[in-house]
Amino acid sequence: MAFPPSFIDEVVARNPIEDVVGQYVTLKRSGGNMFGLCPFHGEKTASFSVAPEKGIYYCFGCHKGGGAINFMMEIEGLSYPDAVRNLAQRAGMQVPEDDQYQSRYRAQERLWALMKEAGRFFHEQLYGPNGGECLAYVQKRGLSKSIVTRFGIGFAPDSWNALVDAMKKKGYTDQELRDADLVGEKNGRIYDRFRNRLMFPIIDVRGNVIGFGGRVLDDSKPKYLNTSETLIFNKRRNLFGLNLAKKTKFPYMILVEGNIDVVTLHQYGFDNAVASLGTSLTDEHAALLSRYTEQVVLTYDSDEAGQRAAQRAIPMLEKVGIRVKVLQMKDAKDPDEFLHKFGPDKFKMLLEDSANRVEYQLNAIRSKYDLSLDDQRIRFIHEAAELICTLGSAVQREVYGHRVADAGKISFESMMLEVNKAFKRRLAREKKKQERIDLAPVQALQPKARSIRYDNVKSAMAEEQILVQALREPALLDRCGSLSGSSFSVGLFGRIFDQLTTRHSRGMDISLGVLEDLSEEEMSHVAGLCHRLQSPVNETAFMDCVRTVQQQSGRNNKSSDDDLLALQNKLKESKGTYQ
Ligand code: CTP
Ligand code: MN
Repeated sequence: MAFPPSFIDEVVARNPIEDVVGQYVTLKRSGGNMFGLCPFHGEKTASFSVAPEKGIYYCFGCHKGGGAINFMMEIEGLSYPDAVRNLAQRAGMQVPEDDQYQSRYRAQERLWALMKEAGRFFHEQLYGPNGGECLAYVQKRGLSKSIVTRFGIGFAPDSWNALVDAMKKKGYTDQELRDADLVGEKNGRIYDRFRNRLMFPIIDVRGNVIGFGGRVLDDSKPKYLNTSETLIFNKRRNLFGLNLAKKTKFPYMILVEGNIDVVTLHQYGFDNAVASLGTSLTDEHAALLSRYTEQVVLTYDSDEAGQRAAQRAIPMLEKVGIRVKVLQMKDAKDPDEFLHKFGPDKFKMLLEDSANRVEYQLNAIRSKYDLSLDDQRIRFIHEAAELICTLGSAVQREVYGHRVADAGKISFESMMLEVNKAFKRRLAREKKKQERIDLAPVQALQPKARSIRYDNVKSAMAEEQILVQALREPALLDRCGSLSGSSFSVGLFGRIFDQLTTRHSRGMDISLGVLEDLSEEEMSHVAGLCHRLQSPVNETAFMDCVRTVQQQSGRNNKSSDDDLLALQNKLKESKGTYQ
């Protein structure tokens, strides 16, 4: 449930941070801030600080931080709305009823309700008089009744108006149906967009139906029709099946390509399968996954496109701290086909055999060459050395170095010479990039939070300054011109910037405590920045930062900076090993 921002403002304003924290922690004033023993980790010296004028707390020991609402969530284990209610009560405020909600939130709630109704409608159709053909298709695909129920799978009837009529009867307007992307439009008349399709509801981690993927029942094209972006749906930020998979007992997630793969895997007990909604994996997907698991088994289709997609996904997942394994199937194109052909026990064996990503990549290189031919053997060794020289740990380099040396029938010593040469080549290649940016602070400036990464450090530094300065002096937001969150290289900062500008343009208060939709880790990171970056407000410096962000986003040079960071990690970890 969402509260109107103006209400949150008041809750925050009426609950001074020092009072809220003061209920749990004895605080002593020192300069402008107050200090005490951190209630979140055992400590003997006070590293927990409260900044009353900023309305935030931050622990220099455990790096937790945020506003009054976060504090209540953390200390009492409350959800966001419950923490807000608790604080409202504390300040003697009434919690607003529905009709007071801001229009955006009302609109969102209407869309959630509409999508849920639509999902229910599709599901009922499957068992209705027109559902026969689709039900037969479901059975042909081997899906059980209970899995159909668990996923809320349904059928969009072969009609131009079945859904429109049913939803209008329930009080939804043409405009709401358009906003939900459930209809097409011709000559001013709306019609059902999904017709004669098997419908997969896409459900977010909070349990809201936010979109649909609709598959044809035969081989016609397009095979899938998906909800495009709406107020409540963004395919780059959601994963099919995560609403169920987040509850899994497995210590890893299985990432697959197809909706049907997810459903079939769950049916066979692999309740940790998710898919990326027909798009290639995004950084947002990776960050989302990192909130629920530390390991991912990539189980993409066995065709070339699938394997290419896997290679691309590996660094994206590793960047957010996820360990990656890659499962490879023989005699089946995808997990769905494999399970039906060979059963879950065989699939479990594949899972157990799944190679870590280095083995997988080495195998991929090896399969390109015929090692019985000397010139190919040499090329194999060269290419493998290029891979091994990127590995951060000396143990890994030694293990895989041995393996390649054996396969290439050369000595381990020669192999390591090759690896060192490859490393030097790599260094030379990257040197120009090194010169472009001052490398030394890059590593130090990477956030500690696992889900936040600075891919473009130059831009990220400017973005930090923009946010911190704007939080201190909101009038600076008037100077940002056309800058918008989408130009920011760090998604989190872009989201915050958009919230700040929206609030500012409506004349609302701006402080860290009123920001919405931030995870605990994200909030702590930003609170930490506000504590760390204490330079006084300076409009000229601020404008420089705005320009930097605009220029960097124009250059769109994300990948080269990625490489740079990767190289720097290597440099740091390999000190002393190579020279
Ligand atoms: N997809 C899409 N549009 C298409 C084809 C595919 O959006 N025209 C997305 C769907 O989300 C689909 C995923 O890409 O689930 C993987 O595609 P594919 O393997 O072709 O689909 P499956 O769901 O696995 O269906 P099937 O096994 O019946 O081929
Ligand atoms: Mn498939």
